[in-house]
Amino acid sequence: MSPTVTNQRNEVSFVAQENETILDAALRNNRIYPYGCRSGICGACKSELVRGKVDYGEYEEFALSDLEREQGKVLLCQAVPLGDIVIDTEEVMTGTRIQIKMLPCRVRKLTRLAGDVMQLYLALPKTQSFNFIPGQYIDIVLKNGLRRSFSIANLPAQVAEAGIELHIRNVPDGHFTPRVFDAMNERDLLRFEGPFGTYFLQSEENRPMIMIAGGTGFSPIKGLFQQAMEKNPNHDVHLFWGARDEQDLYMDALVRKWQSAYPNLKYTPVLSESSSADWTGATGFVHETVCNAYDTFADHDVYASGPPVMIDSVRNSLGEKGMKSDRFFFDSFDYALPA
Ligand SMILES: Cc1cc2nc3c(=O)[nH]c(=O)nc-3n(C[C@H](O)[C@H](O)[C@H](O)COP(=O)(O)OP(=O)(O)OC[C@H]3O[C@@H](n4cnc5c(N)ncnc54)[C@H](O)[C@@H]3O)c2cc1C
Ligand code: FES
Repeated sequence: MSPTVTNQRNEVSFVAQENETILDAALRNNRIYPYGCRSGICGACKSELVRGKVDYGEYEEFALSDLEREQGKVLLCQAVPLGDIVIDTEEVMTGTRIQIKMLPCRVRKLTRLAGDVMQLYLALPKTQSFNFIPGQYIDIVLKNGLRRSFSIANLPAQVAEAGIELHIRNVPDGHFTPRVFDAMNERDLLRFEGPFGTYFLQSEENRPMIMIAGGTGFSPIKGLFQQAMEKNPNHDVHLFWGARDEQDLYMDALVRKWQSAYPNLKYTPVLSESSSADWTGATGFVHETVCNAYDTFADHDVYASGPPVMIDSVRNSLGEKGMKSDRFFFDSFDYALPA
């Protein structure tokens, strides 16, 4: 018989199909729990298994340590129920019904934003609608079934006309991204599934926000920031963008334009490898600049997206200065695990 999953936090139950992970079953039933990579790498979906048995699946030690597993933790994106189970986890209220779809699309436009960053617009079939919450991501599904995740940079209302906007960094020797730079053409056909993830605005009150982008981590921040300004153009936001050099700040001009439109936006770009004498801004690792900018982070909502090492550093350093774990929202740009 198909196992039932009950979340004791809100006493909601749903049925999982055979070999279905807890997260997939939850999403199919429109129950959304915090998650990110869906690959057992980032740890965002770690929750408590209160009762019952699961197959824990495959995951990185970083995402779930042996000790945590002994203490009853489980990764919802990997664990498959082996009978009825009870979990305890927060449910994310989106206010929107998000339908995850597998859709074909065509490359509408390719623009080189920096030496190793490509902006890609994907046009959807006219008969298909696609809804998402700014900050979410899609999986490009390759012919061999492999998947690669990329965050959506624009807003849902812009998609019908412009297409889905992605910012893709070239991973040397990567399976997919080098093709975007060397072999992809406008009108090429692709397939994607989405939207996924819970990296979206979750600020209930007007708490000041800190947004931290590392490299192409700017992509979801672009959507998050625009949505925040649609809700309240006076919201206090301090945006930090960490990059190697000036050309890596591939939409610096856009952020400066935002600054003239939104009086409460502060912007601090941080370069880690700039050798230019003209650069008078912050240098070093972005998390250090953020950390030194405030005495405490107890009153902030913090949104961070970019390389896993940056996400960890932000979590640790801002955590030591009062950042609350339930006010820290992140997307860790993990590399896909080998098939
Ligand atoms: C939720 C989410 C959202 C994402 N959003 C974006 C986005 O908006 N834009 C974006 O550019 N990327 C994003 N990423 C990251 C992107 O999905 C990966 O970079 C992807 O794996 C690249 O695909 P690829 O096939 O080119 O490289 P892969 O074939 O996946 O990479 C090949 C292998 O090379 C190794 N490798 C190569 N370079 C490095 C490195 N610098 N450090 C460590 N290992 C390395 C890894 O072991 C990897 O397995 C996101 C990832 C996640 C999980
Ligand atoms: S480890 Fe489960 S979503 Fe990343």
